[in-house]
Amino acid sequence: MKIFGKVIIFTGSKGGCGQSFTANCIANYLAMKTNYNILMIDMNTGSRDSRTIYHTVNEEIMTIADIYYEKKKPAIEDIKKVIVNFKNSLSYIFPPLKQQNKIFKYLFLKNLFKLFTGIFDLVIVDCDMFVDFNIKNGSIFDLSDELIIVSLADKVSVSNINSIISYFLKSKDNLNIKIIINKYNIKPSVSILKLNSLVRYPISQFIPYDRDIENLYLTKGPASIFKYNLKIVNDIRQIAESIIKDIPDNNNN
Ligand SMILES: Nc1ncnc2c1ncn2[C@@H]1O[C@H](COP(=O)(O)OP(=O)(O)O)[C@@H](O)[C@H]1O
Ligand SMILES: [Mg+2]
Repeated sequence: MKIFGKVIIFTGSKGGCGQSFTANCIANYLAMKTNYNILMIDMNTGSRDSRTIYHTVNEEIMTIADIYYEKKKPAIEDIKKVIVNFKNSLSYIFPPLKQQNKIFKYLFLKNLFKLFTGIFDLVIVDCDMFVDFNIKNGSIFDLSDELIIVSLADKVSVSNINSIISYFLKSKDNLNIKIIINKYNIKPSVSILKLNSLVRYPISQFIPYDRDIENLYLTKGPASIFKYNLKIVNDIRQIAESIIKDIPDNNNN
């Protein structure tokens, strides 16, 4: 049974900043630890990352691009074709492997997400800023209840993150934004103190880089990291808990 329907979009300030890593870890944690029905959508066309970490070898999996019709609303039967079910109540939608010449219409995505939030409690989207350039008449970010921007701690990333923040603050009035600084312990990085003054928005969380965790994530999958009591794991857990904290207690069982 669906308890609530909420869309959380993860985006990042630069390739390799950990946008997919944090989104996948959080989706797996919530699928494992709660009864919520969770859908994760990887929107990064052409990227094999999610197939690799979930050891998904089937190249023929249908994707959102396959069920896209310019003039037709998506139906429940369409979305059943693209959803892959994992254990722990996590469902997944993989991106197309080949570059698409399709430009999605915003209205199609809006209808699609309406179907998703009608079924799932949480829809977690891994979505590069560039995805938005291929959407006509609107922005995918308008479909989110919460936007999580992941960034590294170097100078270029900080400058990028400030541009992203001003873009969202200018164009989207009620967007709920969270900033996460990832791999802050990796040089070259700006100190935490300096970051707090340079980034033009409060930073919610600082996640360190951990080589063993990266190895686990890549070989055994995102769910496997939660067996370990490390700062990085606790930080990710905290972000996940904060996503579900607004749900009334009587529903959270
Ligand atoms: N805090 C972290 N600790 C360990 N490995 C990390 C961390 N953040 C990201 N990674 C690893 O860094 C690589 C790039 O991260 P990824 O999430 O794929 O970047 P992108 O932002 O491009 O989606 C991946 O191998 C991922 O597992
Ligand atoms: Mg990625």
